[in-house]
Parts: sequence; structure tokens; C-alpha cells
Amino acid sequence: MSSIVYLNGQYLPIEKARISVLDRGFTFGDGVYEVIPVYHGHIFRLKKHIERLNNSLDEVYIEKLYDLAQWQEILCELIQQNPAEDHSLYIQVTRGISERDHAIDMATEPTVFAMSRPLLKKDRSAGISAIVEEDIRWKYCHIKAITLLPSVILRHKARLAGATEALLVKDGYVTEGAASNVFVVKDGVVKTPPKDGSLLPGITRDLLVELLVEANIPCEEVAITEKELRQADEIWITSSTWEIVPVVKLDAEPVGTGKPGEVWQQATEMYQAFKTAMAKDA
Ligand SMILES: Cc1ncc(COP(=O)(O)O)c(C=O)c1O
Repeated sequence: MSSIVYLNGQYLPIEKARISVLDRGFTFGDGVYEVIPVYHGHIFRLKKHIERLNNSLDEVYIEKLYDLAQWQEILCELIQQNPAEDHSLYIQVTRGISERDHAIDMATEPTVFAMSRPLLKKDRSAGISAIVEEDIRWKYCHIKAITLLPSVILRHKARLAGATEALLVKDGYVTEGAASNVFVVKDGVVKTPPKDGSLLPGITRDLLVELLVEANIPCEEVAITEKELRQADEIWITSSTWEIVPVVKLDAEPVGTGKPGEVWQQATEMYQAFKTAMAKDA
């Protein structure tokens, strides 16, 4: 499907959007990105996403070209030019074009690309299967880097095993999913790993922690062992486009009762109510 995308100051049909083969995003995977959902025209948690984008840019020494208001203008234009009920916005900033040399000061101007795709609602409320895999990624997973080869391989391993997501374990502790954050529930207490370099500070994760705390549902940001993961009553994964998804099978074994749990039901209802209230306010 044709769409209008944003590339370096211009709005143009996706077929006409071109970048150089010497763009460092292509030659080095030298760039960062964001994915932001839009519900009924409201860009969900925009400020948080742009804060995280700015943090990623700072961490990799790429210049920040736009502030929040400028991003908002670009994204609103894309939403308008690509009508859909809900959207998934994608932003990618690379270091730009340079000779193929590791030295970053050879690149002069970042490449800025953004597009909007329809956000298709897939019903995952019956739960998904996951596998446990060793976390083979690097140490700076708090940066939303475009260099996603390990995650691509891990997702494919899940697929080969007939599952949807790979839950990752490093030195015996759960970090996150290949493209999601992880929550477990045991005896009514919700736990998610603390934010350090081993995982992406998910916008959905953070909001969910806030909502659980507000609702007086016990929620802890603590290290989770692989054993705790395997013995959990409930496991959920979260992401901006998938929201909160129950994991009902882990390595082909049922998680808890093998059905989406009660705490997940409560959590997802709270999340949907929050989304609806935000879209109404917009
Ligand atoms: C590795 C990883 N962790 C967590 C998430 C969830 O982050 P968010 O809730 O901000 O979408 C993602 C999203 O794609 C991800 O790729």
C-alpha cells in the first residue's frame, strides 16, 4: 500500500523516498528508532517516546535535530496524510552518510525518516506461546538501536519452535522479550525486572507499573530468576503495539492454569480504560 513518508524535511510517496547506500544505517546499523501508537488521532505517550529517542541519540552521539514540538508537527502531518483508524508511527534517525569508516565524525548530517502505518488490531487475548532463550544481545539494551540482528534471530527461533516470543535470560535472570518487556505474577504479586542496561525501558512497561501501583496491586521492579519465570502463575509481555499479552505456554509447558490469568484481566482493563480516557481528552 502506498503511503506518504517523511525523509529529511520532505513528505513524499514511499516509493520515491531514497537514501544513499553509504548511509551509516545501511553500512553499520548506526542509528536508533522509535515506534509510537496512535489511537483515534491521539499520539499515545508522545513525550515519553521522544524523551527515550533523545536519550538513545545522546547515548550514541547523534545530534538531535528536532524538539518535541517539531516531532509532533511531523507526526501529525503523517497521520493526516495516511488516514487510518489507529496508526503505528515509526521514526528512524541514522548518523547519515559517510565513507565506510568507523570514525563517526565523518558523517555530517543525520538521516531522519518517519512513516505511519495502519495499526492493525490482532486479538492476542487468548494468550501466546513463548520459549526461553539465552540473551545473546549487547550490554546497552536501554538504547533503542536499529541494530536488531540478535532480536531477529531470537524471534525466528521462537517461530521455529511454534511460539511467538522468546523470553531472554542472562546469567540466570530474566531481562525481557526479543521485542517486549516481561512481567510475572506469583501469589498476586506482579514483578518486572528493574531498568538497567540489560533491557529497553518500555513505555508500556512504565505505564503499566504506574497503573498497577495506583490500583494498589502489589508490583515490584526486581530481578526475576529463570526459576521464578518457570514457576510463575502468570506471565505477560508488553509493547506499544501489542499492549499487554498473556503468555500461556512456556517451552511447551502451561503457565499457571494455561489460560490468561485474573491479574492480567485486571491489568489489561485498566490499560484500555487509560487509553480511552487519553483519546477522549485529546
Ligand atoms: C527489546 C524491546 N523491549 C521492550 C519493548 C517494549 O517497549 P515499548 O513498550 O516502549 O514499545 C520493545 C518494543 O519494541 C523492544 O523491542
